[in-house]
Amino acid sequence: MKVAVAGKGGVGKTTVSAFLARCWRDLGYEVVAVDADPDANLAGTLGYRGPDITPLVKLKRLIEERVGGGEGWGGFLKMNPRVDDIPGDVGVLVDGIRVLVMGTIERGRSGCACPENILLREVLNHLMLRSREHVVVDMEAGVEHLGRGTAEGVDTMLVVVEPGWASLQTAARVAELARDLGIRQVQAIANKISGDADLAFVRENLVGPPLVGVLPLDRELEPEARAGRVSRDRPFYKEMLRIAMEAL
Ligand SMILES: Nc1ncnc2c1ncn2[C@@H]1O[C@H](COP(=O)(O)OP(=O)(O)OP(=O)(O)O)[C@@H](O)[C@H]1O
Ligand SMILES: [Mg+2]
Repeated sequence: MKVAVAGKGGVGKTTVSAFLARCWRDLGYEVVAVDADPDANLAGTLGYRGPDITPLVKLKRLIEERVGGGEGWGGFLKMNPRVDDIPGDVGVLVDGIRVLVMGTIERGRSGCACPENILLREVLNHLMLRSREHVVVDMEAGVEHLGRGTAEGVDTMLVVVEPGWASLQTAARVAELARDLGIRQVQAIANKISGDADLAFVRENLVGPPLVGVLPLDRELEPEARAGRVSRDRPFYKEMLRIAMEAL
């Protein structure tokens, strides 16, 4: 199962991604959690407290070795480098979950065939189209940077919304883009819901994707994440576990 998590800034994409990875892991699956947000914090949210993780785009030696394009490089770039070993080698294990940090590709170069781009694209393609693990990708707010080839491997896009206009508008846009990219299934998750009125607002104003989960506002989430703890008896975890099982 390959899931991409999207939505407006701050709605809870990283939290949902982390819990989805954790729930799948708790169910006994091999999981790769991909941090595709340039402002990466998925590993930290999962409880990682080690040294900064070098994102894939910054691993110059690896990029040169696989794709080429280093200093003094005169040859052609390898467009289909071998990458199947990269998630295992470069990913950091956090509580049994392999976390891969992608890093930022400079905006101006995002469409180019530069070596970093080739490697990122190939690694994502591998994870989405060929790997056997469950994969969850914590995305930047939009979906524009998901290439068509990669999007083809996404089984489900989960769009996180909160009870507010802005996130619902973003969700409608993201869902449309996801469909344009060929993502088969787009679903919404309501997060930070603190009562019936919140849920009613989301239900009334969500246009497009069906609502498949309702996560409560939980003021303990943040202190727990800070302390690197997870209480599995809380309603938030239980609802995420249900969503994780449904998504299988
Ligand atoms: N259900 C919830 N109850 C309480 N706090 C929550 C809930 N979900 C997320 N949060 C908190 O909201 C903040 C934003 O969450 P998170 O980082 O997951 O959002 P995001 O969509 O990934 O943000 P960004 O767009 O910056 O990447 C965090 O402090 C997180 O702990
Ligand atoms: Mg985030």
